[in-house]
Amino acid sequence: MAAFWDSFQAKVTAALICAMLLVVGISDLIIHQFSLNAQFQQLREELKVVARTAAVAIDVDALMQVPLRKDGALTPSYLSISDKINRIRKDNPGIAYVYVLTKTDRPGIWQFIVDADPVQKRNMGITSYPGDKYDTTRFPEMLRGWDSATADKKFGRDEWGVMISGYAPIRDKSGKTVAVLGVDMLAADVYATQMAVHGRAILILFLGIILSIMLGMLLSRRITEPVESLTEGIRRVSRGELTYKVKVRGRDEIAELAMDFNKMAQELLDARKKSSEYFYGVIQSMVRIVEAKDPYTGGHSERVAEYAVKIARRMGFQPDDLEMLRQVAVLHDIGKLGIQDAILNKSDKLTQEEWDLMRSHSVTGEDILKPVLLDVQMLAIVRGHHERYDGSGYPDGLSKDEINIFAQILTVADSYDAMTSSRAYRKVSLRPEDAVAELHKHKGSQFSPRVVDIFCKILQEENN
Ligand SMILES: [Fe+2]
Repeated sequence: MAAFWDSFQAKVTAALICAMLLVVGISDLIIHQFSLNAQFQQLREELKVVARTAAVAIDVDALMQVPLRKDGALTPSYLSISDKINRIRKDNPGIAYVYVLTKTDRPGIWQFIVDADPVQKRNMGITSYPGDKYDTTRFPEMLRGWDSATADKKFGRDEWGVMISGYAPIRDKSGKTVAVLGVDMLAADVYATQMAVHGRAILILFLGIILSIMLGMLLSRRITEPVESLTEGIRRVSRGELTYKVKVRGRDEIAELAMDFNKMAQELLDARKKSSEYFYGVIQSMVRIVEAKDPYTGGHSERVAEYAVKIARRMGFQPDDLEMLRQVAVLHDIGKLGIQDAILNKSDKLTQEEWDLMRSHSVTGEDILKPVLLDVQMLAIVRGHHERYDGSGYPDGLSKDEINIFAQILTVADSYDAMTSSRAYRKVSLRPEDAVAELHKHKGSQFSPRVVDIFCKILQEENN
């Protein structure tokens, strides 16, 4: 898990998701704010118009005659204004209360002149009679209403429900403000609508978040896939798989990078080929040194290579494998460099110690070639060319399929050439048909039966 969060894909995914979330969030906020604000502003404007219209309709002279005490509500002037106010209320069904207040000597404390429906309020236990005091400090818009028509900037919630109020000044003939008319609108519906919009906005935001995450993951994969394939290429090439090619898609910077990378790997491969050709040449001369130490083995390696390649070709191996086998067959006895001439050319029976030394040549050969041959299979063939099919060979005592198939081939080719050419310990070589009989005789014990059969078939065809 830690590896994923450290990865390039995780970072791109996170960046994309964050960017999209930001866009979704901001747009949601803007839409939400704009639509709700627009609706609220419209409501305020309507309230202002209602308040202004009602304020103009009030008879200022009558208003001024209302005595500011409880029984003022019984005077004809009060009743005429109250009547007008009730008409205004009926004409605007959204309006719950209409009232008129004026200032007192105390700042912020106003008093009622007319309240539209004192009867209704009286039933609720809230009565406002002329002269009743009212603390307006909680209602800044009401205070502003003394100068010009205005409306609340936010919903008010109280015991009467969700409310929004508009205010307008009532002016006398000289234009001086004498009172403020207030209209209260029960805004439960509007408030509910706003809450619903709010809820929908949250839902849209939530869906937007899910969509952002999904899109972020999808998009990031498209971006990071080429980078990942490039990373895979670098990993493989650094492991020595120089023939690996990164798939190039599109024409962007990453594709260009991939193309350059492939070119670099190819150049590396060419250089590697050149240097191994060079080393191969050096080793070949060392093989000749070995062969020169034993006059009887002259040309042995080349012949073994020839036989081995013939067998492998018949077995259906590809040209690359045949070339590899040819090279390794020529070098396979390079380990004999480490054995004294006296032992190599000894015609008498070897002592146990000498035999052990002789037998070490396959491992020595592997050690000599290790720094030069990077092909693991070639090294396994050199090491395993004296393994026996039944597991009694050396150095590892491998049997059957455990032995590299090319090592199995090499063993047969090597033995056949050894039998048909002169050796220090056996001056007279076997005739080909006797050597073939020997191969058959040790089929399944020393040799792979399949390889022997194929080789004998090739030899038979060549002799006919
Ligand atoms: Fe050998």
